Amino acid sequence: MTIKPIITVPNEILKKISDPIENVGESEKKLVNDLFETMYNSNGIGLAAVQVGILKRILVIDVSTKEEEKNPLSFINPVIKKISDETSVYEEGCLSIPDTFIEIERPKICEVEYIDLDGKLKNIRCDGLLSTCLQHEINHLDGKLIIDNLTKLKRDIIIKKISKNKKNPNRVIV
Ligand code: NI
Repeated sequence: MTIKPIITVPNEILKKISDPIENVGESEKKLVNDLFETMYNSNGIGLAAVQVGILKRILVIDVSTKEEEKNPLSFINPVIKKISDETSVYEEGCLSIPDTFIEIERPKICEVEYIDLDGKLKNIRCDGLLSTCLQHEINHLDGKLIIDNLTKLKRDIIIKKISKNKKNPNRVIV
């Protein structure tokens, strides 16, 4: 397994639409393992392939808490089939937008069809954090980010701050 560098804004690849997987083979299985390793290494709860620069419709999630056993979930070609009218609001972060948290309202429950690592078509009904996380990651596969709904001014401020931090990797906040 390999920890891959995570791509951050304003890299244009994050706006691209990922391609569906036609066959689940060894390279897809290796990619899923790499995504898990990269996600756990960054303490994230979800990661899409595009965030490591690979435009394939693959994503991984683990919303288990530190006290719980790991619960790695992987989704290939996920499609949202149903959403609830009821919504919930979480303060969301994103590994591609460091140090930024934005309140996002989404459908509380979603039903998602996807292909598993054995190539089988599956269906999952999600609620709570898993539902929000899965919707966030599926947005990545369509080139959508949590900053997209902000005004251009707010978005530019966030991107400028992140770019600046990158240039000064040794800067500390005290
Ligand atoms: Ni994200």
